[in-house]
Amino acid sequence: MKKGRGFRKEMILWWCMLLLSLLGTDNKWVRGQFDSNGFISIDCGLSENDSYIDEHTKLSYISDAQFIDTGLNHNISKEYTPSLSRQYLTVRSFNSGARNCYSLKSLVLGSKYLIRATFLYGNYDGLNQFAMFDLYLGVNFWKTVNISDAVTPIIAEVITVAPADYVQVCLANTGGGTPFISSLDLRPLKDTLYLLANSTQSLSLVKRLNAGPTNTTIIRYPDDLHDRLWEPWSNEPYWSELTTTSDVSHILTDQFEAPSIVFQTAATPVNSSVLQFDWAPSPLDKSPSYWWALHFCETQLLGKNQSRWFNITVDGLMWYAEPYSPSYLRADEIFGKYGLQLPYYNVSLVATGNSTLPPLLNAFELFIVLPVANLPTDGGDVSAINAIKEKYQIKKNWVGDPCAPETYIWDGLNCSYTGSPRIIALNLASNGLMGDFPSLFSELKALQSLNLSDNNLTGSIPDALSLLASLTLLDLTGNNLNGTIPDGLLRKSQAGKLTLRVGDNPNLCSNSTACTPNEQKKDNGSIRVIAIIVPVIVVVLLVALALLLCMLKNKKGTGREQYSSFSKAGLKDDLIQLENRQFTYTELAAITNEFTRILGKGGFGTVYHGTLEDGTQVAVKVRSESSSQGTRDFLGEAEILAKVHHKFLVSMIGYCKEESCVALVFEYISRGTLQEHLQGPTGFSAPLTWRQRVRIAKESAQGLEYLHKGCSRPLIHRDVKTNNILLNEKLEAKIADFGLSKAINSDQTHVTTCVVGTAGYFDPEYCMTSQLTEKSDVYSFGIVLLELITGQKALISASGQEAEKTNIVYWVRQRLAKGNIESIVDARMKGEYDANSVWKVTDLALKCTMPLGSQRPMMPEVVAQLKECMESEVTCDINYHSSQNSSIGTTRNGYYTGYSINGDTRS
Ligand SMILES: *[C@@H]1O[C@H](CO)[C@@H](O)[C@H](O)[C@H]1NC(C)=O
Ligand SMILES: *[C@@H]1O[C@H](CO)[C@@H](O)[C@H](O)[C@H]1NC(C)=O
Ligand SMILES: *[C@@H]1O[C@H](CO)[C@@H](O)[C@H](O)[C@H]1NC(C)=O
Ligand SMILES: *[C@@H]1O[C@H](CO)[C@@H](O)[C@H](O)[C@H]1NC(C)=O
Ligand SMILES: *[C@@H]1O[C@H](CO)[C@@H](O)[C@H](O)[C@H]1NC(C)=O
Ligand SMILES: *[C@@H]1O[C@H](CO)[C@@H](O)[C@H](O)[C@H]1NC(C)=O
Ligand SMILES: *[C@@H]1O[C@H](CO)[C@@H](O)[C@H](O)[C@H]1NC(C)=O
Ligand SMILES: *[C@@H]1O[C@H](CO)[C@@H](O)[C@H](O)[C@H]1NC(C)=O
Repeated sequence: MKKGRGFRKEMILWWCMLLLSLLGTDNKWVRGQFDSNGFISIDCGLSENDSYIDEHTKLSYISDAQFIDTGLNHNISKEYTPSLSRQYLTVRSFNSGARNCYSLKSLVLGSKYLIRATFLYGNYDGLNQFAMFDLYLGVNFWKTVNISDAVTPIIAEVITVAPADYVQVCLANTGGGTPFISSLDLRPLKDTLYLLANSTQSLSLVKRLNAGPTNTTIIRYPDDLHDRLWEPWSNEPYWSELTTTSDVSHILTDQFEAPSIVFQTAATPVNSSVLQFDWAPSPLDKSPSYWWALHFCETQLLGKNQSRWFNITVDGLMWYAEPYSPSYLRADEIFGKYGLQLPYYNVSLVATGNSTLPPLLNAFELFIVLPVANLPTDGGDVSAINAIKEKYQIKKNWVGDPCAPETYIWDGLNCSYTGSPRIIALNLASNGLMGDFPSLFSELKALQSLNLSDNNLTGSIPDALSLLASLTLLDLTGNNLNGTIPDGLLRKSQAGKLTLRVGDNPNLCSNSTACTPNEQKKDNGSIRVIAIIVPVIVVVLLVALALLLCMLKNKKGTGREQYSSFSKAGLKDDLIQLENRQFTYTELAAITNEFTRILGKGGFGTVYHGTLEDGTQVAVKVRSESSSQGTRDFLGEAEILAKVHHKFLVSMIGYCKEESCVALVFEYISRGTLQEHLQGPTGFSAPLTWRQRVRIAKESAQGLEYLHKGCSRPLIHRDVKTNNILLNEKLEAKIADFGLSKAINSDQTHVTTCVVGTAGYFDPEYCMTSQLTEKSDVYSFGIVLLELITGQKALISASGQEAEKTNIVYWVRQRLAKGNIESIVDARMKGEYDANSVWKVTDLALKCTMPLGSQRPMMPEVVAQLKECMESEVTCDINYHSSQNSSIGTTRNGYYTGYSINGDTRS
């Protein structure tokens, strides 16, 4: 749908351009990249502004100048030109740079495209040397181009889903000679074509063959509306040709839309009942996975006593599950459900015993399935760094994707590679940057370190830099900056969160109060006053500056380092201040979009969803006026959280402590609570598998273990429950809500407090003695384990009657006494679990929920037991997968019925 819209837009655009050109303004429409089909046809090496209509396809080819800045144009040697299509007569070559890229822009993200590059050497450089280089589709390897003679064109074609609104085609010099290219085509495809090409894999063409051709012409546009190239394929004298002139019909859901003319010819074996062909994996591709499609259509009207039935086998095994007979004048395809990796590929069409005619084949397409493993750099980062490149005319090796693949990362950049790469460091020291210092840099939202030292930057430091949440180093030493250092940056540096270096900027004021005259300049009315005041102030300022410098020097730290000395002072500050960010109410309002999206409510107040400047999602817990939790408790929580960091505990990012607002900012855990996953409405999420449950149990246990043992004093959570275990997008457990945590003094083994916690999870011993120990958390964790096993609530209401609630421990013990483990296991797992593993966890849960604390294990023991369960689960899993690997499957166009080699997965 998305694609349809974009497509229409392009059509309208094109018509407008055409109209303009008809009105005789100028030949501008040629510069537009798309033609009326939405095709881009580029003749590389054609001089800028040149274009022509290809005589065979009638497609309009344009110069590549608008798609690339690097490389040199060449004509191929005259001796080869007579017999070649025009696209091959010029090339663009790249003798500098490890990677050079074409950018095809204004595409539709998520839409499918066919991209084709051709390479014909033609001795363009007069050296008669055949190069070998790599081709990349954006950030992913596509193909190795191996030129072995001067006149055979190499054609690389890929069917891919655009990962952004542009696609880059890059030529990488791998030391095998100068890369070059003859032409580059882009053709849009409907999403329903070649379903195997999706956002995680592309299809790189090996061969597309039209069997039994009438002559040696390559079939393409306009016969093929998608402009695929169908090469003629004959095998005389072993194969003969069958032809028809009748129209061939296609089914509506055709995944190929191969042209009729291809179906009108077929190959059939001569004097044999077998049509056979084979190929070996190319050594240039590392362990390629091949996928292919066979195109069939009966071209002859068979007589009453005639029949054409054949088996399709690969390496002697039935590839399509049953004998097949093509239909008269109906296009049909048989293709794999996924790519296959075999040592050798031998495809045979073998006539069955009752068939009177030999097999036939109309066409064959063979692809390598290319994983789209590398993600492109974050779109925001890409546009920001490109704008910076443009502004300062940075040359270096800055082409293609900034961060990916890692081997081609741009000089001066450092990136993080979890998920879509982000630029985290930019070093442009001593790069001769001239001109002002724009806020462009603050668009690199994940930036941690920015070094622009020793350039000729002028103007003032943009305030926007202080919004970069992760920035810890900013070096602007040795420029010509003026104005003042933005307050935000100063504050961060004073709080020790930022190392700020601004020395050797003669016109830069170090303190905003001292620089007020500059701000007054904006005031038009007072120029004359300023004329008098400025000299006075300048003198005062110089004196003040000199004094300041003296003072700082005495405190060690040179002029160059003056602001990093602030950060050293900051170290003495409170722990909270050092590790966490302090937010103002205004900032919180901005982050949460005026407190619009509520994530949850609790005794303490409301939790809102928010997004930091760098895109990090957060949960903002704001204490309400009526909260039963006092400001003291609240800040107590902050203090504990500030000190506690563990993979399986929700971490705090910052806090707000103002009269009008007391709030804590946490990392946002996207998949909600464990309770929702166990008991949420059907459709809330897929039911958790047993393996996931054990892992979640193990991870929460590790979180609790850390609380109990990892800190200088043990912390008791006091409210362990499924509602306080959050799951992130990887379904990793994070324990939340330490609001009630109390540290135990090491000389005591318990703390006495008022009753807290949630019904159903109370430690019965604690209820009697009011003495809270770590064992109370163990009890509550046992309840969590039972919930994971059974999918029941901590308090189970029998037959829906509220009044008669049964404790889950009692419920489980009762059932186990009567029957077997199945009677307690969550039915949503559909019986897919290892009974031994479930027994083990149940046993552990029952130990944790023993009535007396002394009978219960400590958390480290619980963790150890759960780890053991995990390991036995892993072995099961591996066996399960390996038994699945042995089947290869095929599908028939339009019938997604899952035929497999065994024929038993047909549905
Ligand atoms: C192409 O056209 C642009 C704009 O009309 C012009 O500036 C440029 O010089 C032309 N290039 C060539 C090689 O003629
Ligand atoms: C792409 O197709 C492959 C094979 O059918 C499949 O395993 C994969 O999940 C698909 N990816 C997406 C994003 O749909
Ligand atoms: C080759 O065959 C195609 C279709 O069969 C036909 O359109 C084309 O004109 C033929 N070309 C020549 C050179 O005979
Ligand atoms: C074709 O396949 C069928 C069903 O699997 C089998 O019974 C038959 O023997 C095969 N025929 C040939 C010629 O291989
Ligand atoms: C030939 O045999 C196949 C199964 O092997 C069967 O489906 C088909 O109907 C038979 N054809 C004829 C003409 O008997
Ligand atoms: C940049 O600044 C340095 C030192 O101030 C100066 O020597 C150099 O000429 C400047 N470069 C340019 C291109 O202005
Ligand atoms: C800072 O430098 C810029 C460019 O050099 C100049 O336009 C601006 O007036 C200067 N500002 C101050 C406050 O000196
Ligand atoms: C700037 O200087 C004034 C007076 O010297 C001082 O009161 C103020 O705290 C300073 N501000 C900063 C941000 O350092």
